[in-house]
Amino acid sequence: MSEATGKKAVLQLDGKEIELPIYSGTLGPDVIDVKDVLASGHFTFDPGFMATASCESKITFIDGNKGILLHRGYPIDQLATQTDYLETCYLLLNGELPNQEQKEEFDKKVRAHTMVHDQVSRFYNGFRRDAHPMAIMVGVVGALSAFYHNQLDIEDVNHREITAVRLIAKIPTLAAWSYKYTVGQPFMYPRNDLSYAENFLYMMFATPADKDYKVNPVLAKAMDRIFTLHADHEQNASTSTVRLAGSTGANPYACISAGISALWGPAHGGANEAVLKMLDEIGSVENVAEFMEKVKRKEVKLMGFGHRVYKNFDPRAKVMKQTCDEVLAALGINDPQLALAMELERIALSDPYFIERNLYPNVDFYSGIILKAIGIPTTMFTVIFALARTVGWISHWLEMHSAPYKIGRPRQLYTGETQRDIKR
Ligand code: SDX
Repeated sequence: MSEATGKKAVLQLDGKEIELPIYSGTLGPDVIDVKDVLASGHFTFDPGFMATASCESKITFIDGNKGILLHRGYPIDQLATQTDYLETCYLLLNGELPNQEQKEEFDKKVRAHTMVHDQVSRFYNGFRRDAHPMAIMVGVVGALSAFYHNQLDIEDVNHREITAVRLIAKIPTLAAWSYKYTVGQPFMYPRNDLSYAENFLYMMFATPADKDYKVNPVLAKAMDRIFTLHADHEQNASTSTVRLAGSTGANPYACISAGISALWGPAHGGANEAVLKMLDEIGSVENVAEFMEKVKRKEVKLMGFGHRVYKNFDPRAKVMKQTCDEVLAALGINDPQLALAMELERIALSDPYFIERNLYPNVDFYSGIILKAIGIPTTMFTVIFALARTVGWISHWLEMHSAPYKIGRPRQLYTGETQRDIKR
């Protein structure tokens, strides 16, 4: 629970003083509780929530100035290199890393829920084959709410917990099928003898004709690490969307679908796809200088750079770059786009325009190069992000529902017409 500091902020308004309590967390800035501003007949005003803490949470801590990202206190670079994704899922959900017995139990529970009701596979047929896989994911994940609604009591903690396991377990199946559908290949069903990342790559790239399909362990390890690096990130736009939808008591599958929708935007999770498109457009290192001038003229954004919170490096980008080097070396790939990306980064880190604006590579800058090396098509990059972030979204949904909460209902500064009558 946050600690009342005993300190107060004093707002002087219309000759009156309003005392606003200040609370401290365990890490990060203190917060000023502004609800009493309402009594003064004013609202606070913070478009884009630049300075607003929307909730109290114990799941993830970010220090944007120091480039720190902790999940339940553990640094992201340790989790990405010393645990697998399902262990990080267990940590986000339960607050502690699993011991060996808990790990085996959780892995078994997830494997038991990777299948989806066969009717769900019919939803894909309603899409055109050239539909964007994220459009498909918004639809089919939302459709799961039709299969888990009447018997689902979100006030029952056991119902909430099985919902989290179902979503973590089924999202790779739905994600792989969103790819298979767009390439006209038959759906591959999940297998219980494969790890989480292996199963996903199997469902993505195996075909019924290839009975002996084997997932490359280098690719499975890289995929698992990419999932971990994307698992959660505090109150980002898509997580805040899930919390806001959840605050109405909405079906959790529908809330996750809302999160997928928010993530899709190029300013958020859609940036990884946009980075590859940007690298394709630049084409070669010779064109970088001219492209950077376009960025400075604000004609284009340098996708994969900048962050609302990180005003220093994004710790995930560092691990992603290291993974990129490992995967390309292991596969013997010399991807010219990596050289191009590194030249963009070199210029951005030395050019005053970018330094003044604290523009550093974020999680999306190098991820696309690894995903391409794994064989993931560009249109699936944000789907991979949504797959990995599902555990973060549902962890925040669980946290919100584990204590009393209020429906999220912001107000506004109204600058429209004053009241007037229709004159006909
Ligand atoms: C994710 O929130 C999260 O935690 C998100 C995420 C997660 O894990 O959930 O980390 C995942 O979404 C990472 C971000 C991926 N998006 C991109 O890579 C897209 C490119 N980045 C930008 O769109 C931007 O940096 C944002 C959206 C990420 C952050 O925008 P802010 O905080 O609102 O910053 P801003 O737009 O006010 O920019 C401040 C200045 C502006 O210049 P001036 O008006 O002061 O002259 O920096 C400039 C912006 O023009 N700027 C950029 C830029 N990002 C900001 N200029 C060129 N290229 C960019 N990428």
